Amino acid sequence: MADDVPGLVPLGPAGPERAARDVVAALGLRERAVPGRPRVVAAMIASLDGRTAVEGRSVALGHPADRQLLRELRTAADAVLVGTRTLAAERYANLLDEDQVALRRAARRAPHPVMATVSRALDLPLDVPLFAEAGVPIQVYTEHDGAPPPSPGADLAVERFDELTLPAVLEHLGSARGAQVVLCEGGPSLLRELVAQGGLDDLLLTVAPLLAAGDAPSVLEGAELDAPARLALAGVHRAGDHVVLHLRASR
Ligand SMILES: NC(=O)c1ccc[n+]([C@@H]2O[C@H](COP(=O)([O-])OP(=O)(O)OC[C@H]3O[C@@H](n4cnc5c(N)ncnc54)[C@H](OP(=O)(O)O)[C@@H]3O)[C@@H](O)[C@H]2O)c1
Repeated sequence: MADDVPGLVPLGPAGPERAARDVVAALGLRERAVPGRPRVVAAMIASLDGRTAVEGRSVALGHPADRQLLRELRTAADAVLVGTRTLAAERYANLLDEDQVALRRAARRAPHPVMATVSRALDLPLDVPLFAEAGVPIQVYTEHDGAPPPSPGADLAVERFDELTLPAVLEHLGSARGAQVVLCEGGPSLLRELVAQGGLDDLLLTVAPLLAAGDAPSVLEGAELDAPARLALAGVHRAGDHVVLHLRASR
């Protein structure tokens, strides 16, 4: 082997098990401010062959520890950004457990993160249970100038832009909704745009020990990026045979 070729480093030995809440706290999201906009962390899960859904949803890919990690990320976030097709496919409801709401209240934060979604056509899946949950703030971003839809129960606000860009969305979440940390839960189309527009800071990518094939989208879906985004490995966690990678955008 040539002397200048680096060797391979085994990961481990395995450390002690840590609660999802402690893993999220150790990310230090709130301490790592980004100038001019909130810090953005994305969370995704994919099969070994890169599929993000089985039969149209991500649930079959999951692990209880990974689902808990997502809920703790929501607890830590001021806003959750999610695409309209994901809201519909995943039937969003009950984002937090009671103890997570209590934790936020104890920290003098709003009981629920702002649920933010983007739809240029203002085409919202209003039959999704989340839209009927009283007290949940939902912030919709659109280019459409029609009347906002009547809310079935949630506290719905609509912000219109002549041209909807994700930097503008993030700027609004920071300045108008007070968000310091935004969690993006995809889907793959929205995440591709977020990466393309320089809006991703951290990625928690869970690799599920499954081979799925099919035509479900990959972690990023859409046109090839001008240049692949380079991320740096910041941490690796394991839950059974699921592996959670924490990566940071290198700038
Ligand atoms: N495994 C995972 O971690 C994971 C996570 C999330 C979702 N998923 C899966 O992914 C699938 C849904 O994802 P998806 O990629 O089809 O849709 P998506 O990203 O959830 O939503 C796409 C929608 O967002 C709106 N949008 C607004 N601005 C956009 C922009 N700049 N770029 C792209 N979209 C924009 C579009 O509506 P307008 O045309 O009205 O603008 C578009 O229809 C589901 O099967 C879901 O189960 C998996």
